[in-house]
Amino acid sequence: MKLFDVYPINNITIERAKGSNVWDDQGTQYLDLYGGHAVISIGHTHPHYVARLTEQLNKVGFYSNSVRMPLQEELAAKLGKLSGKEDYQLFLVNSGAEANENALKLASFVNGRKKIITFKKGFHGRTSLAVAATDNPAIVAPVNQNPNIIFLPYNDEAALEACFKEQGSEISSVIIEGIQGVGGINVASPEFLKKIRSLCTEYGAVYIADGIQCGYGRSGKFFSHDFAGVNADIYSMAKGMGNGFPIGGILIAPEIQPKHSMLGTTFGGNHLACAAALAVVEVMEKEKLMENAAETGNYLMEGLKQIPELQNVRGRGLMIGFDVPEHLKDLRKKLLWENKIFTGEAKGNVIRLLPSLALTKADADQFLMAIKATIASMVSSPAH
Ligand SMILES: Cc1ncc(COP(=O)(O)O)c(C=O)c1O
Repeated sequence: MKLFDVYPINNITIERAKGSNVWDDQGTQYLDLYGGHAVISIGHTHPHYVARLTEQLNKVGFYSNSVRMPLQEELAAKLGKLSGKEDYQLFLVNSGAEANENALKLASFVNGRKKIITFKKGFHGRTSLAVAATDNPAIVAPVNQNPNIIFLPYNDEAALEACFKEQGSEISSVIIEGIQGVGGINVASPEFLKKIRSLCTEYGAVYIADGIQCGYGRSGKFFSHDFAGVNADIYSMAKGMGNGFPIGGILIAPEIQPKHSMLGTTFGGNHLACAAALAVVEVMEKEKLMENAAETGNYLMEGLKQIPELQNVRGRGLMIGFDVPEHLKDLRKKLLWENKIFTGEAKGNVIRLLPSLALTKADADQFLMAIKATIASMVSSPAH
């Protein structure tokens, strides 16, 4: 049987990983500033993570949500403390798309409405409603097309106000990434997020903060939306939550009342997934990884700003993007193949950095030195 060939892949086989490094099957070491797409939060194969998962697997790996799950309660308590949203409620799923799908659905249950405001260049996942709310027609199948989705420009307060004025009583929810990831690291202004909060409150719509890529401590705060100083009604989370173990979830404001069977999943919140998520939260707290994301992120961003060829260096914490000029368009490939450094990309020749939140200043220095040397070599011999 062949694999269904949907991923453009690099011809590299990773066999081993530790912290911010991975090794291929030839024994070559790479610096990982991509984290498997923002997933590796506490570092690859962290000893506490490996021990907690191994221990749990030897006890019980899975049982469904038909019995009591003290691990879920423990996770909710620790997550409440770490995120500062102690009065919120936790519903666990398996992926980012599923988290957003449930957030949008729950919002519609809450207010009985159908319309969703989402933003240009936004990405919310590939399931039916999440993909309909994603600004990329190429991944929206005909069956997913949905007339209830309204796309507005990101950070445009006037457009948002006008839309609410016209259709406010029909808007079920507004979903927004605090920092657009796939869209190329675009940071929502605090004023814009405050405007969403106040309009949602005024019109009875639900404010959904998509924290799947920009959340879970990556920005230096638990949710990048927190920089606005206002609360969303629902937060979605996934990527960094299990450090690679598939788990996602939504945090739900205390006013939203649950009803039996309104949401559900077979696998979501199973024992092994909870053990992974607990290990992540424990390490984040013990090793102060949010603080490290803020500090090392600033250090890295300041270093990148000193490199004149890199344009529009932006982001927060360890979610950083910059534009690469046309004459250096192979920079990312050279970083991978010549310097053995993984980075991410976005349309428009953007390099995206999404490393582990445990990235050290030495790792940042290694990257800064490599990128400077590569640019110098590309500028001095443009034919190569
Ligand atoms: C902001 C955002 N939302 C949702 C998703 C979907 O997550 P998943 O791939 O786990 O379904 C992603 C994935 O890249 C994302 O970046």
